[in-house]
Amino acid sequence: MFARRLFSTSSSSLPPTIRQILASNTHSTPVQVNGWIKSIRKQAKVAFAVVTDGSSSQTLQAVFTKDALAEAKNLTNGACVRLNGTLAKSIGPGQDVELQVDKVECLGECTSEEYPIQKKSLNTDYLRDHCNFRARTDSIAAMLRLRSSTLRGLQQYFESQEFCYAHTPIITSNDSEGGGETFSVTPSAPATSSTAPAPHSDFFGRPAYLTVSSQLHLEALAASISRVYTISPCFRAERSQTSRHLSEFWMLEAEWAFTNSVEDVTRVVEGAVRSVMQAPSVDLQVLWKDMDPVRLEALRRAVESDVPWARITYTQAVEELQKHSSSFKVAAKWGDSLRSEHEQWLAERLIGGPVFVTDYPASMKPFYMRLNDDGKTVACFDLLVPHVGELAGGSLREERLELLKDALRKAGLREEEYAWYVELRKFGGAPHGGFGLGFERLIRWMSGIENVRECIAMPRWEGRMLL
Ligand code: 4AD
Repeated sequence: MFARRLFSTSSSSLPPTIRQILASNTHSTPVQVNGWIKSIRKQAKVAFAVVTDGSSSQTLQAVFTKDALAEAKNLTNGACVRLNGTLAKSIGPGQDVELQVDKVECLGECTSEEYPIQKKSLNTDYLRDHCNFRARTDSIAAMLRLRSSTLRGLQQYFESQEFCYAHTPIITSNDSEGGGETFSVTPSAPATSSTAPAPHSDFFGRPAYLTVSSQLHLEALAASISRVYTISPCFRAERSQTSRHLSEFWMLEAEWAFTNSVEDVTRVVEGAVRSVMQAPSVDLQVLWKDMDPVRLEALRRAVESDVPWARITYTQAVEELQKHSSSFKVAAKWGDSLRSEHEQWLAERLIGGPVFVTDYPASMKPFYMRLNDDGKTVACFDLLVPHVGELAGGSLREERLELLKDALRKAGLREEEYAWYVELRKFGGAPHGGFGLGFERLIRWMSGIENVRECIAMPRWEGRMLL
């Protein structure tokens, strides 16, 4: 009871986590610890177990003597335990406190020979095959906590800038990016009764998809709330087996009214990303231990230096790429998409850090981007970062009614389908802009993790959906 009062917050009666226990640095305190055995060493008169509850990268050493020793004899790696005991100053190296256990309760046994998470190092493919357990490894657990703290940081940043967090639909009738890489949504079984209304492909009376981006819905909200953002799952049926693509990923998207410069939009992106990296969390530091030092140095420079991130236009980028055409498998050409090798070269070699590439040809970009005065390019950007490539993309949105209708026509989209979107321009349309940033790619860039598949708990990609 005393321990519960000592550690718990006023609004919760939950027992303390190992992180709280270690942070409190108290001794001679009775405490209850719930967690899993990471490793256990048994000797004749004493046993030592390393216990984790996933609340931080730190573990607690539990020491079993006397009565507790007999109970510890049956514990194995992976077992789920409740331990009652007393915190004491540790005499062993590596930790300040240890738990001297009085009472052991095994809440869940673990058949150690069959347990997928053995102590030896486990390769990435093996862990992907066991993604129901892979959060028990240090790196995936650290990544999950990093996701959580990064989300919190992003929310704090946007709240500090007076943005309102909005929820947008997951089921939608539009493919905002126009790439045709959507998943369709239909009920799983056709209706069976004779009074059945619509056939199952027609549940909503029109085609329905899982959202590829919240942007168009956010634009509608920005036309009222001025500044809105969301952090939402997105779904893309891209047949890309790369270290950057998932079929289900999370995107931070922000949209706001009363902006008429792409530079303003890039400043918000830069501000948000820098803000979450300014005070690196313990988990980030854990992940940095496995990061290539050169890469880590470049990352820190990008975030810690006061120099704003570089900006070049697409046209300048293509000129630079053409000067070095022998470095590429495919030469860059004005009007073509930049290939991954081009994006990497721009960020890693030409700039040596993050770079906003702006003003792409209109023909390469979705219909909603604002046409520049040259009539050929649009007011947009892609943010490229070393080792990851494209991290975010955004633009000013076309607020001029006739030009928007024209863009829809050129994209082969029917105006009636987008009538609600077009209407936003008719009734008090404001100049506005926004961006989307891939959350798993951000985690990858921050942490040095090699593949976005290890930046989400249960990844989905073409050909793979476990659980
Ligand atoms: O560049 P994209 O396609 O832009 C949009 O969807 C805009 N509507 C966003 C907006 O302006 N509100 O996607 C934005 C970001 C990319 O830069 C990338 O980081 C991430 O989303 N992304 C993916 N991440 C993982 N797997 C995929 N398949 C991704 N596709 C895009």
